[in-house]
Amino acid sequence: MKTLFTNIKMLIQVEKSPVKWVAGNNMSKLPCIEDAFLLVDEGLIKDFGSMKQLPHFDDSESIIELDVTGRMILPSFCDSHTHLVYAGSREIEYVDKIKGLSYEEIAKRGGGILNSVKRLHLATEDELYDSAMERLHEIAGFGTGAVEIKSGYGLSTENEVKMLRVIKRLKETTPLEIKATFLGAHAVPTEFKGRQSEYVDLIINEMIPQVADEKLADYIDVFCDKGFFTPDETERILSAGIKYGLRGKIHANELDFSGGIQVGVKYGALSVDHLEFVGDAEINALLGSDTMPTILPGAAFFLNMPFSPVRKMMDAGLPIALASDFNPGSSPSGNMKFIMSLGCINYKMTPEEVINASTINSAYAMGIQETHGSICRGKVANLYVTTQIPSFEYLPYAYTSNLIEEVMLNGEFI
Ligand code: NIG
Ligand code: FE
Repeated sequence: MKTLFTNIKMLIQVEKSPVKWVAGNNMSKLPCIEDAFLLVDEGLIKDFGSMKQLPHFDDSESIIELDVTGRMILPSFCDSHTHLVYAGSREIEYVDKIKGLSYEEIAKRGGGILNSVKRLHLATEDELYDSAMERLHEIAGFGTGAVEIKSGYGLSTENEVKMLRVIKRLKETTPLEIKATFLGAHAVPTEFKGRQSEYVDLIINEMIPQVADEKLADYIDVFCDKGFFTPDETERILSAGIKYGLRGKIHANELDFSGGIQVGVKYGALSVDHLEFVGDAEINALLGSDTMPTILPGAAFFLNMPFSPVRKMMDAGLPIALASDFNPGSSPSGNMKFIMSLGCINYKMTPEEVINASTINSAYAMGIQETHGSICRGKVANLYVTTQIPSFEYLPYAYTSNLIEEVMLNGEFI
């Protein structure tokens, strides 16, 4: 079955062939076709171009034609950093934060990540699956077509594996493209308090081999930051992961100049994420590497953290990806359109830059740039049709309006 979209007001983020990423000044360029057509066949993007070049289709071909006059089409968002499998919620900590407690103070009182760990231990796989599936439905409606999901609320072999099995089941049963990341080193569990290096040993000697044995993860993550895991511990965990084919995607420099960016680059991490604390040394480490600097504007907004120097990084020639960090503690939202708005408002990124950062570049940050992240012949037909909007700049501008009329994943409307 073929679907032909005609009279598309603007077809956005078109590529002749997949690029690795968009970096530096090129982030301000957004290839678009006005008054366009788009042909989808067997779940893939088959053809596109200007309406003037619309090919003639034989009557015998079964084609559903959709006239989308006044509407734009964009590739679905790729959300390369989330923790959307979790139990319960943490609005009480949200109130504590309003009253003035810091993220670290809340973590020290047994709140924060460890609060979600307690709840996750009590939840069954079915309960976790059902609540995560609801979140997937929600973000699909907001235009996300691919999402990375981390473990990290288990912090014991049994419970980390439980989380990853839930992610595996989600992978098998949703039209969204999913990548799984093992994040045993998210925090030190209560029972290992004062024995952090023993917990790191457990991750290396027991968790990683089991996760790899059951093929439960695509990537490995470490929260390399002040009060969490040191660069030395991160190095040990990343090199253990690499032996099992797990590439790093790490939490770095959210709370301090932690050395996380440098260690991530040294071990060839696919991405380093958060990056509130970035100076010349960090930028120099990233230049020339294959590591995608990924900004999580939702967490910085929600926790009132300093904003990463994104403009300085782009001026230095780096690419930037944006992701939601959807999680119950620091970013209880997976709305990538709102993340784009935050990119514009708080980081002074232009609409072209935030679209690049949340499609092509975030596809790279989850290792799917060959198949997702743009309108390109042969790529998966994951896209959305907007409502009647005046321009693409209107998308991040109208920051609470959904503006999405139809979502197509793998060539099917959902
Ligand atoms: O990415 N920074 C570390 N981890 C998460 C927070 C998770 C939580 O608070 O539950 C983050 O923001
Ligand atoms: Fe995170």
